[in-house]
Amino acid sequence: MGQKMEGRLAAAAAFVHERLGMTPQVGVVLGSGLGDFAALVEADCILPYADIPGFPTATVEGHAGRFVFGRLDGVPVAVMQGRVHYYEGYDMADVVMPIRLMRLLGVKSVVLTNASGGINPALKPGTFMLVTDHLSFLVPSPLRGANLDSLGLRFPDMSQVYDSGLLDLARKSAAAEGVELHEGVYIQTAGPNFETPAEIRMYGRLGADAVGMSTACEAMAARHCGLRVCALSCIANLAAGISPTPLSIEEVYEVSARQAPVFQRLLRRLIREIGV
Ligand code: HPA
Repeated sequence: MGQKMEGRLAAAAAFVHERLGMTPQVGVVLGSGLGDFAALVEADCILPYADIPGFPTATVEGHAGRFVFGRLDGVPVAVMQGRVHYYEGYDMADVVMPIRLMRLLGVKSVVLTNASGGINPALKPGTFMLVTDHLSFLVPSPLRGANLDSLGLRFPDMSQVYDSGLLDLARKSAAAEGVELHEGVYIQTAGPNFETPAEIRMYGRLGADAVGMSTACEAMAARHCGLRVCALSCIANLAAGISPTPLSIEEVYEVSARQAPVFQRLLRRLIREIGV
């Protein structure tokens, strides 16, 4: 995999480089319901994932599947409108290929966003959580297979995946915008099914505050290749068994879309803070 992925990444980076007149500093991955955020970018170049050679393409509804490169309040950004998920059938190496591409394009920090289910009773639908750490053992490591030595170490440290400086900027941004920002541990499942109540009880006992189907793998790949990482979660529903009603993707989209204006304000401020 290593050799092949190295070649695929180089080809994808060369393709994007040719079309890009800028060096993005901050990479942003927009989760469910947040896609409209890309409209705030003064776009320099928009590239559908399907146009990039060797690139995985998002198949799930609610994810546009394209890069928007440009400036946001003057900060050079690479915004991913939609991500690929493990549950779509891709290998983890494909799922994190966009993160590694952003690193090759010059990105220094990434902000990952998602919608998730609240396990901690304090996390009600519509609230936000700053991810301080994660549990990722339910999915294969994105670093499995031959190591990409040009990007990072074979055995990278993961004792601080989420950058303490970026965490502080996120707290500061939330305070400035008057947005209540909880903090907690995110657990990534393989999906695509939602969890059983017994699974959620177990995850809670293991230390998880919120559950979702993305993000941790991207954070690990980002950390591996030396990016600073920050992740924000919009709690879209109470997790299974805590919620009195069955879970549905419609509920996830509805709540995350309703909270999108607040999430966008928080994200915009954070990007501005990072760019300073
Ligand atoms: N479980 C897993 N993924 C999710 C959830 C959930 O409850 N809500 C949004 N994404």
